[in-house]
Amino acid sequence: MCGIIGIVAGRDVAPLLVDSLKRLEYRGYDSAGIATLDGGALARRRAEGKLVNLENHLKDQPLPGVVGIGHTRWATHGKPVERNAHPHMTKRLAVVHNGIIENFAELRTSLQADGYVFETETDTEAVAHLVTREMDRGLPPIDAVKAALPQLQGAFALAIIFEGVEGLLIGARQGPPLAIGYGDGEMYLGSDAIALAPLTDMICYLEDGDWVVVRKSGATIYDAQNNEVKRAVQKVQSQEFLVSKGNHRHFMEKEIHEQPEVIGHTLAHYLDLSTGTVRQDVAELDFSKIDRLSMSACGTAYYAAAIGKYWFEQIARLPVDIDIASEFRYREMPLSKDTLAMFVSQSGETADTLASLRYCKSQGLKIASIVNVTTSTIARESDAVFPILAGPEIGVASTKAFTSQLTVMASLAVMAAKQRGVIDDAQERALVKQLSEVPRIANQVLKLEGEIEKICRELAQVKHVLYLGRGTSFPLAMEGALKLKEISYIHAEGYAAGELKHGPIALIDDSIPVIVIAPSDRLYEKTVSNMQEVAARGGRIILISDEEGAKNASVDTMATIVMPEMAEFITPLLYALPVQMLAYYTAVFMGTDVDQPRNLAKSVTVE
Ligand code: F6R
Repeated sequence: MCGIIGIVAGRDVAPLLVDSLKRLEYRGYDSAGIATLDGGALARRRAEGKLVNLENHLKDQPLPGVVGIGHTRWATHGKPVERNAHPHMTKRLAVVHNGIIENFAELRTSLQADGYVFETETDTEAVAHLVTREMDRGLPPIDAVKAALPQLQGAFALAIIFEGVEGLLIGARQGPPLAIGYGDGEMYLGSDAIALAPLTDMICYLEDGDWVVVRKSGATIYDAQNNEVKRAVQKVQSQEFLVSKGNHRHFMEKEIHEQPEVIGHTLAHYLDLSTGTVRQDVAELDFSKIDRLSMSACGTAYYAAAIGKYWFEQIARLPVDIDIASEFRYREMPLSKDTLAMFVSQSGETADTLASLRYCKSQGLKIASIVNVTTSTIARESDAVFPILAGPEIGVASTKAFTSQLTVMASLAVMAAKQRGVIDDAQERALVKQLSEVPRIANQVLKLEGEIEKICRELAQVKHVLYLGRGTSFPLAMEGALKLKEISYIHAEGYAAGELKHGPIALIDDSIPVIVIAPSDRLYEKTVSNMQEVAARGGRIILISDEEGAKNASVDTMATIVMPEMAEFITPLLYALPVQMLAYYTAVFMGTDVDQPRNLAKSVTVE
């Protein structure tokens, strides 16, 4: 994820900015930059790749100035090249941004019509020109930001400095965290306490919708309605300087909220959004040379693979076997040399998954892996590695790693389809376009949080829950059940909706909520029939569907979560979010240890 730092001080800030950016490296990044204000004039230095490149650049061309902003960029819109690195500048200001501006295309069109020239492919540049346009219309900086913020849709944390205006730094937060740091005669903004650690331990986290005017002497905070507000300043505990939850209650909550940005970043690695194609150079692997895919994984990673199976088979016409790694490793399955063995693992260290990999290797198969930790054993022992680029996942219950695994598999399914000649250029573009919509829709889905929290108050009272789904919603139903049981300790099972009448229907009465995952796709009506079977037996239904699905459900539900409209292909990526939030808030109501549930470990390196 991108990282932000801003400093208003009485000393040169460039070295301080770079030092803070180093502390944000853990979030992952692919370019970095800083801008300062020196004698009223804005200047910036940016560099692709590691921070050492920026440092070398600064050695050649130092950047004096007592006010500045800095950024580590984790590409979402536009390639990870210097041109797209932050800060973005106009003649009036420099801005750094973390998050996604959903309406950047409309803003860009409107700004271009007014003569503003765009130099990059980023959504952030629209913010720079938008505030500039307000200033060109005669507003001073603070009023210009105030006028621009309501025009921005999406999730963002921003820090802005202004040409000719010494001692002023403005920040804003809607979604990604932004903290104010209080120093001795200097003030800071940062993505988290870690960024600010060498500067101060007195931190105040902005709330959603807040924006702040920062000067050397202090900060004035406004809420989304522009009322001046006070937010608590806290002394940060030393462990928060390691990996921080920001102002989220749990890492799991933070990681759920990171998903729009994380998915956007992963997509940017696998897709070229400017041409609407899948990047074919991400690994040396030709899917036209294999006739079968064998995927093994454990837990959540297994359910991700189970969804991937639908995509590879339907889109790329590639047959897929999926296995729970602990079963696969002892099954002594005959494998053909034309099978690609693929392993999905967040940690890359799971003992059963690794043992399965080694078995396939001993059979002479080519090995591919989808991992988060690219230095892990599974990655090292693979012929082709597909990183999910989710950043560190701290919550034991996997959330962002799951949707990033799905993102990679969806992209690879399109890649395989193209290589195998089963889709043409137009079909590839259509699928890539659908995938590119995921971060924007994910932001909308996160807004259902309050509603989902209310449902969970009731869920926290029950002993058993059933999850039903068809197609890709079936593995998602199993993932939903796993999430709920591991963090709330409520017994839950996920079933293929069509299996209900073959046994589980005997369980149905009014004490067991049934969560039905049913986007209005081609299987919707079949799922509705199963839902009616539940309703007829007094079962209480929580339906997750879209507006059309909710309208056509024809049963009384205990609650309905109405999702945005979306293409059938991308539904598992987005329906995963309410499923995660249902588990999360239920666990919060039950008061369990959400981030470290009993008996579980993040990485299972034993059998
Ligand atoms: C559940 C969860 C686990 C892991 C499983 C595999 O939320 O996180 O089920 O998915 O232990 O771990 P990795 O992906 O590291 O191989």
